[in-house]
Amino acid sequence: MSAETVVSLTGIGKGFPNGVLALRGLSFDVRDGEFVSLLGPSGCGKSTALRILAGLAAASEGSVRWADRHPPASGELGFVFQEPTLMPWTSVAGNVRLPLRFQAVSRAEAERRVEEAIGLVGLKGFESAYPRELSGGMKMRVSIARALVTRPRLLLMDEPFAALDEITRFRLNDDLLALWSRERLTIVFVTHSVFESVYLSNRILVMAARPGRVVDELRIDTAQPRDEAFRTSSDYAAMCRQVSASLRSAMSMAS
Ligand SMILES: Nc1ncnc2c1ncn2[C@@H]1O[C@H](COP(=O)(O)OP(=O)(O)OP(=O)(O)O)[C@@H](O)[C@H]1O
Ligand SMILES: [Mg+2]
Repeated sequence: MSAETVVSLTGIGKGFPNGVLALRGLSFDVRDGEFVSLLGPSGCGKSTALRILAGLAAASEGSVRWADRHPPASGELGFVFQEPTLMPWTSVAGNVRLPLRFQAVSRAEAERRVEEAIGLVGLKGFESAYPRELSGGMKMRVSIARALVTRPRLLLMDEPFAALDEITRFRLNDDLLALWSRERLTIVFVTHSVFESVYLSNRILVMAARPGRVVDELRIDTAQPRDEAFRTSSDYAAMCRQVSASLRSAMSMAS
């Protein structure tokens, strides 16, 4: 394992009791400070892979090895689900504070962290709003703040912006990149969007289905910060074409 590797998955398999073999021979590394995307068609096992990485599900075979030999403690890893899954009966601040219930932090420290996380996602001023008062994009921001409140180094995101309109999605993409570089996060981002994966990532892992595994890896070396100029550049279009071709070939692959 190289010094910069945070976690290494080797030969991961996952079968479900109903006989579905979701993953088999899935291997990849995550390196410190990188933004890596798992890109693949619906049902190829992206969520299953992310859940295994997070320790939310157990692999049937293979190994998950962490650089410091033990899995991250609660709070060292943040998970953002596709649905914002906010508690409707409590405010933005209340939702963001939830993960701190399980941590030994003082009330004053909790307040500081909640305020900080809400600021990081650009929701200052909305602390007392309730989920029902928020737009889809704002709910997702709350969900990201909730994942950041424990100050994790590693953030796992499962198609967080899939349900959002394009304008909101672009804005959240930009804000996420700014957050990633400012906070020096390591991010594993699941998506089925070629455009989103090229815009955000340092590295794209292309997955094939049945069983799910990584079949290609593409580096996106364009420097940060990426912005509208990158999104409309011919370089970006060329990289999207290349990643699309790789995804098409993954989708035509038999196991
Ligand atoms: N709990 C489960 N029991 C049985 N089969 C499951 C379970 N969870 C997932 N699967 C199956 O495993 C395969 C991979 O599912 P997974 O949700 O990981 O795919 P995905 O790539 O995240 O898809 P999507 O892009 O639609 O979210 C699918 O065939 C799915 O039906
Ligand atoms: Mg999924």
